[in-house]
Amino acid sequence: MNADSTSPAQKIILDCDPGHDDAIAMLLAHGNPNLELLAVTTVAGNQTLEKVTTNARAVARVAGITGIPFAAGASRPLVGPQLIPDEIHGDSGLDGPQLPEPSVPLEDIHAVNLIAQIISENEPGSVVIIPTGSLTNIALFARMYPQLVERVGGITLMGGGHHTGNMTPAAEFNILADPEAAAIVFEESWPVTMVGLDVTHQVLAVPERMDQLKAIGTDVAQFIAELVEFFGASYMKERNYPGPPMHDPLAVAAVADPSILRTVRAPIYVETQGQHARGQTIVDFRRTWSHNDPSGLGVTDDPDFEAPNTAVAVDVDAEKFWDLLVDALTRIGNTNF
Ligand code: RIB
Ligand code: CA
Repeated sequence: MNADSTSPAQKIILDCDPGHDDAIAMLLAHGNPNLELLAVTTVAGNQTLEKVTTNARAVARVAGITGIPFAAGASRPLVGPQLIPDEIHGDSGLDGPQLPEPSVPLEDIHAVNLIAQIISENEPGSVVIIPTGSLTNIALFARMYPQLVERVGGITLMGGGHHTGNMTPAAEFNILADPEAAAIVFEESWPVTMVGLDVTHQVLAVPERMDQLKAIGTDVAQFIAELVEFFGASYMKERNYPGPPMHDPLAVAAVADPSILRTVRAPIYVETQGQHARGQTIVDFRRTWSHNDPSGLGVTDDPDFEAPNTAVAVDVDAEKFWDLLVDALTRIGNTNF
């Protein structure tokens, strides 16, 4: 939905595993005027591939998304065991609200091939991929279509964290779900922005924020309220949080308005071994590239230092995020799903 953007909207592909926060990310991607959602692809994660794909198509109906392709991707990680956090998202992957029957058709093409098709058809550098689930599809894309990597405008992913994990003390779910895939994605030459727990834990859907969303008064806002009610109960029970983090919507918001996040460019490594650290994203703040960085995070003044192509979000303007989400939902209005 890029009705009134003065400059061309940023083209995006959302690769997701709905998942409560993925569903809200889809709504934000559709409603924000600075974004043009080209396709939605799915990957196993919060639930099985079949369930997250059905959920994505059902959320499309809630959002009023039509006319763009939906395609399913990897049903399991590259190497490790499949992890399904049904304690957070429930048996359906989107427990809580009554879901409508899916509307958009499912394309008869693998997600990775759809991504390749879209990247090939659009101007080099014009499409940003936003993964909000495990990185299996994105890693497969890089390995199957190495010649297309340089055409990708960037990868802004929800995942990781430079100081904490959620599934383990060291690892965040999207990375731990497929560490080998994540390692491939972070090692590629494309620009990667990691929107990790360091910032997503600063945008919790606490009751006051939910009141803001409910005040929009639409059927879509009510749908989100019911999503957050279930998601929030899971987070309270499992992690004693006062509200569920808006993990995935923040990654989308960061593309819609990059000023929402403060990022630092630094090398990022994914631990694929380790008894306690498998899936950890290790940020080398000793080697940041941002001369005179006000954060003072290990700035290097070495002019020959090759600026890393990876960046980590270190701070967030939470007010801007919530304003962006309210604006997107207001623009969507009632969809009578
Ligand atoms: O750790 C949070 C991430 O894992 C989010 O993307 C959530 O949807 C789950 O996929
Ligand atoms: Ca997700």
